[in-house]
Amino acid sequence: MGSRKRSTHGRQTMTTDYAQWARRTCGALLRMMLQAGLLLCLGWAAAMADEGTKDAIPSEYAGKIMPMGMRDDPKARVAGKDLYDGTVNPEVNCARCHGSDGKPTKLGKGAHDLSDPTEGAKHSDAEWFWRLSEKKPGSKMPGFKDKLSEEQRWQVITYLRTLAQAGR
Ligand code: HEC
Repeated sequence: MGSRKRSTHGRQTMTTDYAQWARRTCGALLRMMLQAGLLLCLGWAAAMADEGTKDAIPSEYAGKIMPMGMRDDPKARVAGKDLYDGTVNPEVNCARCHGSDGKPTKLGKGAHDLSDPTEGAKHSDAEWFWRLSEKKPGSKMPGFKDKLSEEQRWQVITYLRTLAQAGR
């Protein structure tokens, strides 16, 4: 009898110890989970904010690809440069806002540095094609689809890509 009692008592102590340990561990785990959850939420919010700044390409532009061979065609690049600098058509002068080297001028305040390779890597040809074709609401930059043929717009983009290369 006596030994049974002791053993019961022993078990009870063990149970209480275990309960305390479990409570502590659970508390710590819960705290960790809450903290991790909070971090996840913050990360998600930051990702959403980042998404928000990236505009979706309208479907009529989303599938656009640069004509074959143009990216490596030095003639296309030179034609693009002349358009960009306003040499061909003074009404199309990207450099007055984006700078002849791709760094925005006073007039182009708010534009990204087009000579920055990390900036270039973030945007597809299709996205840039769309951006220079259409005027974005609220933007200082005009749309150029009436002033530049599709071919000319692609030429300008090959030139933009080399501006970013120069920054490497
Ligand atoms: C009157 C000034 C102005 C002219 C001219 C202009 N841009 Fe822009 N451009 C801007 C500004 C400001 C932005 C950035 C924010 C925005 O969309 O308003 C921009 C944005 C861009 C972007 C998207 C990358 C970014 O910085 O957000 C590209 C690509 C671009 N311009 C290319 C061109 C090309 C190519 C030409 C010439 C055919 C041109 N721009 C002419 C002012 C100009």
